[in-house]
Amino acid sequence: MTDGVGETVADPAAGPVIDARQFRNVLGQFCTGITVITTFDGDGTPVGFACQSFAALSLEPPLVLFCPTKNSRSWAAIERSGRFCVNVLAEEQQPTCARFGSREPDKFAGIPWRTSDLELPLLDDALATIQCVVDSVIDGGDHYIVIGRVRALSESTDSGRPLLFYRGQYTAIEPDKTTPAPWRADLDHFLTTTTLDTWL
Ligand SMILES: Cc1cc2nc3c(=O)[nH]c(=O)nc-3n(C[C@H](O)[C@H](O)[C@H](O)COP(=O)(O)O)c2cc1C
Repeated sequence: MTDGVGETVADPAAGPVIDARQFRNVLGQFCTGITVITTFDGDGTPVGFACQSFAALSLEPPLVLFCPTKNSRSWAAIERSGRFCVNVLAEEQQPTCARFGSREPDKFAGIPWRTSDLELPLLDDALATIQCVVDSVIDGGDHYIVIGRVRALSESTDSGRPLLFYRGQYTAIEPDKTTPAPWRADLDHFLTTTTLDTWL
């Protein structure tokens, strides 16, 4: 809202005005992995988009979530098909990320992929694939929060490392910088750790 002379002021009902640049900068301090989320369009064409807003949600039942912008064409296709595959990108897959983060018409051209038993497009070089059916969709401002129920999981047999996104740039893990976290007693509450002797 404005004060009549063009200055942006806080709207008491909406809370303080948050500057978009500052929002992006601050949230960019939170480092994430990158996924490509895929499905088939109605005519059998594979579609997908680069997505950092992915998370594990629940073990019992097995749920994950991702957040597509409301004007994503891939989300429109996922909404129609009712299913999607989360492909977790490896550090070598920057070009794949750039392609799927664009609005190019044929994002799969030249990228090795296959069709799964559950009729979803899987990227061959992904670190992991998580195949889901759409469980529920929640409004989230200019995005949706899409909750998926996991139907099938796979992970790469090589010891690849993930592609990361941090402060608006690609980055990767330095192998000698990983350290086991100390809170073993609470392991049951963490969705993305392994258990007992296979810790990290
Ligand atoms: C690293 C990276 C992360 C992204 N994360 C998201 C995301 O979490 N949600 C989203 O809607 N778009 C995200 N995007 C943007 C979409 O990939 C991009 O808008 C794409 O053009 C959408 O294509 P579509 O309209 O064909 O679905 C991301 C892009 C990049 C490069």
